[in-house]
Amino acid sequence: MSKRKAPQESLNEGITDFLTELANYEKNVNRAIHKYNAYRKAASTISKYPQKIKSGTEAKKLEGVGAKIAEKIDEFLQTGTLRKLEKIRNDDTSSSINFLTRVTGIGPAAARKFFDEGVKTLEDLKNIEHKLNHHQQIGLRYFEEFEKRIPRAEMQKMEVLIMKELEKVDPEYIGTICGSYRRGAESSGDIDILLTHPDFTSESEKQPKLINAVVEHFESIGFVTDTQSKGDTKFMGVCQVQRNDEDEDEEEYLHRRIDIRIIPKDQYYCGVLYFTGSDIFNKNMRTHALEKGFTLNEYTVRPLGVTGVAGEPLMVDSERDIFEYIHYRYREPKDRSE
Ligand code: TTP
Ligand code: MG
Repeated sequence: MSKRKAPQESLNEGITDFLTELANYEKNVNRAIHKYNAYRKAASTISKYPQKIKSGTEAKKLEGVGAKIAEKIDEFLQTGTLRKLEKIRNDDTSSSINFLTRVTGIGPAAARKFFDEGVKTLEDLKNIEHKLNHHQQIGLRYFEEFEKRIPRAEMQKMEVLIMKELEKVDPEYIGTICGSYRRGAESSGDIDILLTHPDFTSESEKQPKLINAVVEHFESIGFVTDTQSKGDTKFMGVCQVQRNDEDEDEEEYLHRRIDIRIIPKDQYYCGVLYFTGSDIFNKNMRTHALEKGFTLNEYTVRPLGVTGVAGEPLMVDSERDIFEYIHYRYREPKDRSE
C-alpha cells in the first residue's frame, strides 16, 4: 500500500486537490474514515466530469457531492481558497500529524502519539530513532526516496525482472503486479505483487516456505534490500533495481516500497481484483454485489441467502468470473478508477 497518491489531472484540478487535502486531513488527523471516503468519492467523481465546474449547484448534481461540499466549492470558486483549509494548514497539530503519517509505518494513531510526545519533524524523528519500531525506522531511513513515485518505465523493468526470477525459483508460481501499475498508471507509489502456487489452496496447510523462497531469492540477487515485516503469506519491504555497471550512463535506481502476498489458488482472482483497485472501484463493486445478493471481499465471492447469511464461496477461475456472478459489466484494469 502506498501513501502518496498520484495527483489527479483534470479541468477541475483546483477542486479535486482541495478535496483530497481535506480527505487526508480527516483520515490522518481526525481519524474520521467516513469523511475521508466522502471527500475521496467526491474528488473522484469530479475528476471524471468533462466540464469546468462553475458553481456548487452544478457540482451538487454529481454523485457523492452533497450540500456541504457544494458550499466549499462555491467558496473556492469565489475566493480562490478555503478558510477551513487555510486553518488546517496553519495549525501546528494538523500539519505535524499530517507530516508524520507520510513516514511508512507511522499511521494516524502513532502520529498522534509522537506528536503528543513533542515529536513533529523529520529531525525530531531522527532524534528518537531508537523509539521507532523496525518498520518505522526503515520508513525514516528511506523517507525522501519513498516520497518519489515510480515511473512506469521502471515498473516495467521490475515486472520483467520479477517474472524472470520467479520462474527460476519455481516455474509453477503465478505472479501479477497489481495496484495502480496494472491499471496503467504513468507512475506508482509502490509495487504490489500477488503470487499463487498450485500447491497452495484454502484447504491446504499454511506454506510459509512459498513466500520465503521468493523473498530469499530476491535478497540473494540484491533486489530486496530491507524487510519491514514478514509473515506466512505477506512480506513488506524495500527493493531496488541494481544498476548495470557496464552502462555508465545509467542512473542509480531509488529504493522502492514492495509488498508481496501469496494467496491460495482458489482465492487468487478475488485477490488480484481487490489489489488492482482502485479502492473506490472496489467499494462501488462491493456495493453492486450486495445489491445483486452477493458478498465480495479480497478472498471470495459468496451468495447471500434470504436471511442475509453468506453461503459457500463460489468457484472463481478468473477476474471475469467474479464480474459475471454479480452481473457487473466487465472492466479492463485501465477502466477501474471508479
Ligand atoms: P495501494 O498500493 O495503496 O494503491 P494503488 O496501487 O492503487 O496506488 P499507488 O500508485 O499510490 O500505489 O493499494 C493497492 C490496491 O489495494 C488498491 O488499488 C486497492 C486496494 N486497496 C483497497 O481496496 N482499499 C484500501 O484501503 C487500500 C489501502 C488498498
Ligand atoms: Mg500501489
